[in-house]
Amino acid sequence: MDYIEIIGGERLEGEVTISGAKNAALPIMAASLLAGGLTVIHRVPRLRDIDTMLRIFHHLGVRGEFVDKDTLEIDATTITDCSAPYDLVRKMRASVLVLGPLLSRMGQARVSIPGGCVIGPRPIDLHLKGLEGLSARVEIEHGYVNATGSDLVGAEVYLGGRYGSSVGATINLIMAAARARGTTTIIAAACEPEVVDLCEFLNLMGAKVSGMGSPRITVEGVDELHPVEYTIIPDRIEAGTYLLAGALTGGSLAIRGARADHLDSLIEAMRGVGIEIIREGELIMVRATGDLKPVDIATLPYPGFPTDLQAQMMVLLSIVPGISVIIEKVYPERFMHVPELNRLGARISLEGAAALVRGGRRLSGAPVMASDLRASAALILAGLIAEGKTTVRRVYHLDRGYERMVEKLTALGARIKRIEDG
Ligand code: EPZ
Repeated sequence: MDYIEIIGGERLEGEVTISGAKNAALPIMAASLLAGGLTVIHRVPRLRDIDTMLRIFHHLGVRGEFVDKDTLEIDATTITDCSAPYDLVRKMRASVLVLGPLLSRMGQARVSIPGGCVIGPRPIDLHLKGLEGLSARVEIEHGYVNATGSDLVGAEVYLGGRYGSSVGATINLIMAAARARGTTTIIAAACEPEVVDLCEFLNLMGAKVSGMGSPRITVEGVDELHPVEYTIIPDRIEAGTYLLAGALTGGSLAIRGARADHLDSLIEAMRGVGIEIIREGELIMVRATGDLKPVDIATLPYPGFPTDLQAQMMVLLSIVPGISVIIEKVYPERFMHVPELNRLGARISLEGAAALVRGGRRLSGAPVMASDLRASAALILAGLIAEGKTTVRRVYHLDRGYERMVEKLTALGARIKRIEDG
């Protein structure tokens, strides 16, 4: 299996262009199932998760393929199957996003329940609550959700959960409600930019969604939706990862194509550490200057600090002198990267959902193992500053969510390569 080898110590310099957002592309692909005909989506990143969604589409009898480097065409004129099988869903939990569109368009959907996940328990109760709220019948049988209902009816649905709002449940409900009879109001809706992007896409298709970006979203059902051409927003988590890479290598980086307004909480936290971040037209520039100081952060639903940048931020805090605290409020068990970072010389201890980062450490290279997508990015960042050689195994996690990361980092001056092993 491939692994990544990094020789640490190089400062990153130059400019990096951010790819389209995986977590916007996946729901928008799912929403394209709501309309017959040809949907064209631009700025789709080439990632393993996108390929998995395309495999689900092929299973549904829907044609979907890249027609150039980042343009995807989906032809959902006919759908011949209404199920997403376990074999595909277990590879990617976002497969569950076809539930709402299939139910809306076909009156039925059969989707495998995603199993356990290394970042913690990830139930789908709120997804099901949303669909039931629209009068769908939902049954669990043999590990599958069977949802039926050819006449979905708009309703008021409260979607808040134990850990706040749910991105996926909000998305599934909006998609199901787009063609339901009457008006749906979602209370405690997720406010993430990826939810807003989906709603913009749906409105272009002819849907009537308002309030997106706020916790109260209204969807007035329409009879029909039509296929459109659309461009995905840039990936704020990829952008944040490169901002952190620039800062912790003591370099000077310019990030092109990202939306700074999607990164407020990270920028605030990094400025709190003492990192200089400047917006200049299309660019966000990052530079580490002067003394760095510890900060305390809590991950929260948007616009709070994103859980998807927690591991990468932890790497920065591990070299900042003093003690920082990170509280993980979205996935309280998402700390699989901690023992691996400690192998590289970090000093991080866990107390429930809180990580105590004793900073000011000098990291030294070692073999480490990636446990999930964002953890793998964090280990690569750590490798960039660790003295000597770090090897990161199980890099297939990285392929799920970072487009050409090794190439992008190499262009910025990192000594990093991917090695094929067997
Ligand atoms: C999305 O997952 C992202 N994935 C995740 O990114 C991200 O970490 C997460 O949102 C939080 O920002 C995609 O967009 C494809 P949630 P999602 O439903 O929608 C609980 C990455 O690295 N919950 O907002 O699955 C849940 O357990 C990935 O790119 C319920 O209790 O997340 C969690 O504690 C990883 N019941 C919290 O809500 C439910 O029915 C937020 O989860 C659904 C969720």
